[in-house]
Amino acid sequence: MHDRIRHAGLLEKRMSAEAAAALIKPGMTVAMSGFTGAGYPKAVPQALAAQMETAHAAGTDFKIKVLTGASTAPELDGVLAKVGGMELRLPYMSDPALRKRINDGDLDYMDIHLSHVAQHTWFGFYGGINIAIVEVVGIREDGSLIPSTSVGNNKTWLDMADAVILEVNAQQSAQLEGMHDIYYGTALPPHRKPIALVAPEDRIGQAYLDVDMNKVIAVVETDAPDRLSAFAAPDEASTQIASHLLDFLDGEIKTGRLTDKLLPLQSGVGNIANAVLAGLSRGGYRGLKAYTEVIQDGMLELIKDGTLAFASATSFSLSEAGIEEFNRNVDFYRERIVFRTQEISNHPELIRRLGCIALNGMIEADIYGNVNSTHVVGSHVMNGIGGSGDFARNGYLGAFMSPSTAKGGKISGIVPMASHVDHTEHDTMLIITEQGLADLRGLAPKQRARVITEKCAHPDYKPMLEDYFARASRDSYGKHTPHLMGEALSWHQRYIETGDMRL
Ligand code: COA
Repeated sequence: MHDRIRHAGLLEKRMSAEAAAALIKPGMTVAMSGFTGAGYPKAVPQALAAQMETAHAAGTDFKIKVLTGASTAPELDGVLAKVGGMELRLPYMSDPALRKRINDGDLDYMDIHLSHVAQHTWFGFYGGINIAIVEVVGIREDGSLIPSTSVGNNKTWLDMADAVILEVNAQQSAQLEGMHDIYYGTALPPHRKPIALVAPEDRIGQAYLDVDMNKVIAVVETDAPDRLSAFAAPDEASTQIASHLLDFLDGEIKTGRLTDKLLPLQSGVGNIANAVLAGLSRGGYRGLKAYTEVIQDGMLELIKDGTLAFASATSFSLSEAGIEEFNRNVDFYRERIVFRTQEISNHPELIRRLGCIALNGMIEADIYGNVNSTHVVGSHVMNGIGGSGDFARNGYLGAFMSPSTAKGGKISGIVPMASHVDHTEHDTMLIITEQGLADLRGLAPKQRARVITEKCAHPDYKPMLEDYFARASRDSYGKHTPHLMGEALSWHQRYIETGDMRL
């Protein structure tokens, strides 16, 4: 029998991507695999986009609702966005074509905590799922599925969808088999039980995904790589941010609040998070653990050099060089990595129990520590909240990092009032820019304002913030969290009008 499809019944359901895509009808809710540019279906969405384009040319509107684990890649989000094929998208995206469509107002985008997506689906908040399209590494004799480079919401999609299309991707390493831990113990309230995971390396589930054979309507064979590019080498600002964080962690070890094994690390996406990982490697740490979402090249390097002893994630987002490295030393990495569903990788109960150190990027923070991770000038969505809220609110430490300015200094990363709030002042503990680190733990609002301005603001903006805070402290309606309501968002308005937040 076929070496990747070892179930006779499912072998018979093989068809072309075009034939499988033709099973998808306008208005359907389609849940797809994929978390970052890893493990997403590669053939059916492209065939579907072509069919949509033909329909649109003939005057027929053809759009679907698309749910995934997180962001995907040009072969999914990109092609569907380009043909105007989506009416709704959730929960996270980073594709430029899709971002443009969303910010042009062409479709609805729901930006949801990644830990919420599966349970909100079970609760019925998004209606039903007509079809799940899930990439797998292979199908076993008993019909169970070998998960691919990301797990994301695939368990939920396979369970909840009326029908299932499987993409079996021969390009994904067969060595991934056994690296997954799929937990089937979740239940709806009030029947939930404690989840018995007390360390990142614990296995609490099974290595395979289950699927009801009768729901599988198509099996499509593919042979295409994940689409991930390597990160650029850290720039100066990112390196300084990483160095402030490392100094802070050293201080925490000296005071005895942390040991030199720290606590399980969560590292977000983006250039800065990547620089922090590189910094940890130079910091002399050994035997750390990660309980995070994504294992990217930087984390693989930390595992290789012994900085990390173990990493738990939901996605394996490696560049071509990272994949080669994994394949070269597969036995080594298999012992040190596990992939889980995203409701477990991002589970508030587990993040709080483990006491994760959450390290995420931000767009801006205000002087009181409210953080905007998602919307430029309060209205233009960048990517989405991803898992940053899951980890920042529930972890032991929540750090948000950004250069103190953006767009060549025309935008300040520290503003009087955040133009959109993803993480409230109640959740944020550390704000870090290349200027310095503000430790907000144990501080009241006015103390926070002084520390954030002093430590994190760029010199171009510091006097402006000090002036705002002084006048707000004198004239504010309330004196607990002083603000001048007519002026609080004036920096953003000035940027819209003049292209520069500076006076
Ligand atoms: N105003 C306008 N643009 C801003 C900005 C601001 N205050 N702050 C950052 N940006 C822009 C940058 O200029 C850059 O734009 P470019 O791509 O056109 O050059 C872009 O945002 C990325 O910023 P960068 O400084 O390179 O940081 P990053 O790659 O670390 O990304 C976030 C920062 C906030 C966009 C990113 O961390 C994110 O999407 N976070 C939310 C999701 C998350 O935290 N996930 C983690 C768990 S999954």
